[in-house]
Parts: sequence; structure tokens; C-alpha cells
Amino acid sequence: MKGNFIYSNPTKLYFGDNSLKYLVDELENYGPTVMLTYGAGSIKRNGIYDAVIDILREAGKTVVEDAGVMSNPTIEKLYEGAKIARDNNVDLILAVGGGSVVDYAKGVSVSAWCEDDPWKKYYLNMDEPDCRIIPVGVVLTMVGTGSEMNGGSVITNRTQGLKIGKVFGPEVFPKFSILNPNYTISVPQYQMVAGIFDVMSHIMEQYFSGKDDNTTDYIAEGLMRSLIHSSRIAVKKPQDYEARSNIMWTATWALNTLLGMGKDGDWEVHMIGQAVGAITDATHGMTLAAVSIPYYKYIMANGLDKFVRFAETVWNVDTQGKNQEQIASEGLAALEHWMREIGVVMNLTDLGVTEEQILQIVDGTFLLTGGYRVLTSDDVLKILKESL
Ligand code: NZQ
Ligand code: ZN
Repeated sequence: MKGNFIYSNPTKLYFGDNSLKYLVDELENYGPTVMLTYGAGSIKRNGIYDAVIDILREAGKTVVEDAGVMSNPTIEKLYEGAKIARDNNVDLILAVGGGSVVDYAKGVSVSAWCEDDPWKKYYLNMDEPDCRIIPVGVVLTMVGTGSEMNGGSVITNRTQGLKIGKVFGPEVFPKFSILNPNYTISVPQYQMVAGIFDVMSHIMEQYFSGKDDNTTDYIAEGLMRSLIHSSRIAVKKPQDYEARSNIMWTATWALNTLLGMGKDGDWEVHMIGQAVGAITDATHGMTLAAVSIPYYKYIMANGLDKFVRFAETVWNVDTQGKNQEQIASEGLAALEHWMREIGVVMNLTDLGVTEEQILQIVDGTFLLTGGYRVLTSDDVLKILKESL
């Protein structure tokens, strides 16, 4: 392991089917006004809203509701939330939902008291907050993004055709996250498998970079094996608590900074996926799934040793009598087979992308340098055409 790094993660987790009971203890640490932030209404249908409201009342809090956070939250919604938070001088933002709600809550937390335009400051210029930051707490209801234990906040600007993720520092990480696997059972199957693939993608983005022998890669392999195993159970039996809890725990570790230690990280699949999301508003995990196989086939030769290791360790590919290219290709074939098995979207056409939109997606794709092959816009164009 050759990298230098500092590791610290400030988010306190409460995990398990009784985890919500700790919310009342956490609330003691904050002032009287809580902004309850949630999405389009799933929490009202599955009872989570009532359970949370009861605890907030019991704790004597004044609740300011901020509902209607959409998937792929927009900058317009962020401006609205920042104003609500500021006008009500809220002491805590309690995000109850999936990655969109949590990402949005973090965006609001650094924007409410910020005098500059948050889109320009944080998402375009990647500046750090220099204003009062409102603490964020989380009750997670959908698994995938890892937003419950990281500083990521992805916001979409439809007018500009951009979807950008800002990774904030530890002061913006959620102060606490409540992870009850039972809360994820009501997630529709399409969203569940999109979340599962998002987790897989987070692990692969970090795994497929670097050439040193790094303990972090062994952790990544363990997480991928667990995810593949539990996902196969969850797609057949979504109510299986053991599978859903393992997926939830894997998702958190997939993107809580641990797997990035000592590694550059690739993240090009996410860059392309986010550019697709910016113009289609498609489900995040599906945008990644639609481009992953063409992308990995495209870069395989540049990171051949790692793709061989992936095939052997993660997919148990039989290596007898095969050369490196064959083994690596069989690993990708196994990945593709698993993706079809769990039912993710396998091409961009199914997400509504047309050939005419491809150039716009190329324009919206940031090119990163941490992976095995540094792409040009022309490379992205070829991968996108292959993904249609
Ligand atoms: O809005 P509601 O009614 O809550 O419905 C949501 C939404 O329609 C529904 N849902 C959530 N929990 C549910 C439920 N339905 C029934 N029962 C429940 N328990 O699921 C739908 C999707 O929710 P959403 O929060 O949008 O999904 P996800 O968690 O995948 O978040 C996606 C966003 O996170 C960003 C993505 O780009 C996207 O904007 N990401 C954030 C990252 C981070 N913070 O590090 C990294 C990721 O790579 C990703 O980019
Ligand atoms: Zn993701």
C-alpha cells in the first residue's frame, strides 16, 4: 500500500431494526427547531413519517416541514430549502429518505447562511463552505448512495444541463444516521436494484484504480462478494431482512471514504452516468448500469491485471488453460450476467436517450484521471454509442 492518507469519519451510525429509538437521544444535542426534510411522500405511506413525527413531538421540537425533494434534486429546490432553513433559523435538518433527500439536506446545510450563490460556489467552483453550517441527521429509507456516511451532495441544474457532485469535508457529513433495514422493504423493485447496482459501481470505481498491493482492494472484494450474494436473495425475496440488512451495511461501507484510502479512484462511470442523468432525469443507478459494460470493455486492456483479479476473486472464474484477456473478459461476462439477473437497465435507449442527445451527454461529462485509462471526449462518444 503506497498512498498517504488521513482517515476519519465523524458520522455516528445506529443500525438495526430498533435503531429509530435512538433518535430521541440524538435530538437532545440540538436546539428546538428541526427542519424535517423528505421526498414525494413514500414516508407517509409506509409509516416512517408518523414514527419520526411522534419522536420529534415527544422531544418537544418545533417542526418545520420541507417536503417534495425530488429524485436528482434540483438547484431550484435547494434555493427554496435554504430559504426555509434560514427564515426559521433551524437547528437541525433531519433528512428522512434516500440519497436525494440526504444530498439535498447537505446542500441546504451549507447554503442557508451562505451569502454567495451555492450553485456557483460549491458545485461549479468546488469551493469550501465558509459560513455557518446547519447540522444534518439522517433516517435512511433507500439504500445505494452511501450519502448517509459521506460528504457527497449531488445537485442537478437542468437549465445548464449539468448534474454535479460536490464532496464536502467532515463538517458536512451527517452527524448521525439511523439505518433500519426494515425501512427499505417498501422501496419499489426498480429502485432497489438500481440502488444495488449503485453500490456495486461505487466499489468498482474505487477498485479499478492503482497498481499497488493495497488492503483496501481486499476489503472491496469482500464487499462485492457479499453484495452479489445478498442481491440474489433480495431480488427473489425482497422481504428477506438478512439480505436487505447486508445490502444496507455494504452500501454504507462502499462509499463512506474507506474504499478510497490509498487510491485515486476512477469515477468515470459516474461522470458519464451523471451527464446522462442531467438531461434525462433517469434513476441514478440505472444510468451507471447502462454504460458500465461498454466502459469496462473499453478500458480493460489498460488495467488487465486488475480485471483478471476481479474475475478470479469476485466471480470465481475458472482460469485453467486461459490467457489473461480471456479470464478478464469472463469476469466482465459474469458481471453482465449478474446485472441481467437482478434486472438493471442494460442500455441507454431504455432510459430514453436518443442518438441526437449523445453529443450533449459528451459535453456534460467531466473527464477524470484516476482510472486505468484517461478518456478523451472521443472515447466517451464511442462508449455512449456502444451503450445505446
Ligand atoms: O421521494 P419519495 O417518495 O421518498 O420516493 C423515493 C424515490 O422515488 C423512493 N423511496 C425512497 N425510500 C423509499 C422509497 N419508496 C418506498 N419506500 C421507501 N422506503 O425511491 C425513489 C428514489 O429515491 P432517491 O433518494 O432518489 O434514490 P437514491 O437513494 O438512489 O438517491 C439518488 C441520488 O443520490 C445521488 C444521485 O446522483 C441521485 O441524485 N448520489 C449521491 C451520492 C453521494 N451522496 O455520495 C453518490 C451517488 O453516486 C449518487 O450520485
Ligand atoms: Zn452512485
